[in-house]
Amino acid sequence: MKLAINGREVEVDDRHAKTPLLWVLRDVLELRGTKFGCGAGFCAACTVLIDGRNARSCQTIAERAVGKQVITVEGASGRVVDAVREAWHRANVVQCGYCQPAQTLAATALLQSNPTPDDAAIAHWMNGNVCRCGTYPRIRQTIHSAAETLASNRQPERLAAQPDLDVPPLTLDEKRDPVHPYVRVKPDGTILVYSSQIEMGQGVHTGLATIVAEELDADFDAIQVVNAANGVSSSGDVYGNPFSGGFQITGASTSTRGFWLRYRQVAAQARARLVAAAAQAWQVPQNEIEVASGVLSHGSGKKATFGELAARAERLPVPNGVQPKQRTSYKLIGQEGRLRVDAPGKILGETRFTIDVSLP
Ligand code: FES
Ligand code: FES
Repeated sequence: MKLAINGREVEVDDRHAKTPLLWVLRDVLELRGTKFGCGAGFCAACTVLIDGRNARSCQTIAERAVGKQVITVEGASGRVVDAVREAWHRANVVQCGYCQPAQTLAATALLQSNPTPDDAAIAHWMNGNVCRCGTYPRIRQTIHSAAETLASNRQPERLAAQPDLDVPPLTLDEKRDPVHPYVRVKPDGTILVYSSQIEMGQGVHTGLATIVAEELDADFDAIQVVNAANGVSSSGDVYGNPFSGGFQITGASTSTRGFWLRYRQVAAQARARLVAAAAQAWQVPQNEIEVASGVLSHGSGKKATFGELAARAERLPVPNGVQPKQRTSYKLIGQEGRLRVDAPGKILGETRFTIDVSLP
């Protein structure tokens, strides 16, 4: 059986002729951006485009797709889907993200058939695309925004997600370092924030990124949040949740209140170490160094980015007596305007959920 998936002809064993297309996509072709929700036609998490129309792949046996063009979240491209995804990102539509590849494909099909839908047309078309997180009001508003972009001459930006990083286990020395398990600056200026907490849709990755950017005086867009693990040693778990018995766990609304102090403190220490590295390199007093948007500078005209000083900073001890900022100095915390760091991967179907993990 030949299927045309994302513009490419693929050969699928005839034994799968009666298999729901969903499972051919996910398990045979390993295209896991298309999600399983109910398997019974009720949730539309499994939406794909078949000849341009949104269809529920759990209710479509594979042989019915023969001779048709199937587009999944991985293969959708063009101005309409770019406008939808850009609007989705800018409006912070996404929460847990599980339904969002399907929502964005359904919205794309809508705008392809009706470039100026009113609220009733949106409700009618999107009816059945269930969102457990209840993002419906933002979805409706965002479809209007995408329609406005399409009606203008502006070319929407193509959304890209940061790649998932494999995080190697911490060494004993790294666990002992006060900063390293939580914040690391790479030579290219990327600031890795190791999140002890899982992002289940409430925005904790964006919250921790905001805390770190605030205390570091970093450029928020330089921050990449990765999932932390392997923090256990004989003296406890560096990622232990103080509100949940000291072991690493996400739940019960403890993420921000449990880690608010710790991430502020370690980011302030990371900043202090960068300042100490600059003072050492430039032979100037630390209190004459200023930090803004990921750049350290001195009145003499000397300047360096975090990335340029990161290796030197990591070799220095953390200066004593470092304190986080007073809240009157906050520029990011408590302010609107940042986009969720987890949204692009979820919109593009690249975020791995538990159902997407295959064990050997
Ligand atoms: S998984 Fe297909 S409709 Fe729910
Ligand atoms: S189910 Fe829709 S964002 Fe969570």
